[in-house]
Amino acid sequence: MKILLVGATGHVGSAVHSALRDTHDVITASRNAGIRVDVTDPASVTEMYRAAGPVDAVVVTVGAAPFKPLADLTRDDFTAGFTGKVLAQINLVQEGVASIADGGSFTLTTGILAREPIRTGAASSMANGALEAFVHAASIELPRGVRINAVSPTVLTEATGYHSSFPGFVPADAAIVAQAYRKAIENPYTGRILTVG
Ligand SMILES: NC(=O)c1ccc[n+]([C@@H]2O[C@H](COP(=O)([O-])OP(=O)(O)OC[C@H]3O[C@@H](n4cnc5c(N)ncnc54)[C@H](OP(=O)(O)O)[C@@H]3O)[C@@H](O)[C@H]2O)c1
Repeated sequence: MKILLVGATGHVGSAVHSALRDTHDVITASRNAGIRVDVTDPASVTEMYRAAGPVDAVVVTVGAAPFKPLADLTRDDFTAGFTGKVLAQINLVQEGVASIADGGSFTLTTGILAREPIRTGAASSMANGALEAFVHAASIELPRGVRINAVSPTVLTEATGYHSSFPGFVPADAAIVAQAYRKAIENPYTGRILTVG
């Protein structure tokens, strides 16, 4: 398959790239490597799809939300989380439908905070939950058998900077998380949230 991987150089994205590149034709994109794109800029996303051409699958491993105590999270922080994680990935789906093959797939990235909260994580939990609701809803309306799923990982073993914020959470190796993306792409799944951890 020809697969467009957006966010290919990150903790999650680089592991997904390693898991897919031997068996698929993977095109990478991010702000600083591969096809240059800023996922928060709709015009840039349109240009990325034009540059990539037709694809069988799109994988998105980007998305940022601020981490702060609840009392310090402002309206702007929630807006930033919504824009950076939810709207950015929704826009990649809406803009990408025309580029994707019949029966092709979108695989988005949410995270464990949708189901297991931590202190300082309210904006991220909000974003993950909203995105998972979008995946369920979009799966029943996408045309031509186009599929949509999300991978929802726990904190990665490799993301050591986050570990102290996740007491009691057992980290998952990025290589294990990456297999959930393969599962979403290579099986006829749609509307599913594939949890890891
Ligand atoms: N790390 C974890 O433990 C963990 C656990 C659960 C869920 N997640 C989720 O997984 C996703 C990726 O996390 P990560 O830790 O892999 O992040 P990361 O290491 O910071 O990597 C982010 C990737 O996205 C690209 N990127 C960032 N902003 C972008 C933008 N505006 N436009 C285009 N590309 C952009 C980066 O490349 P450039 O800088 O070149 O743009 C990089 O390739 C996030 O949604 C995160 O919430 C992460």
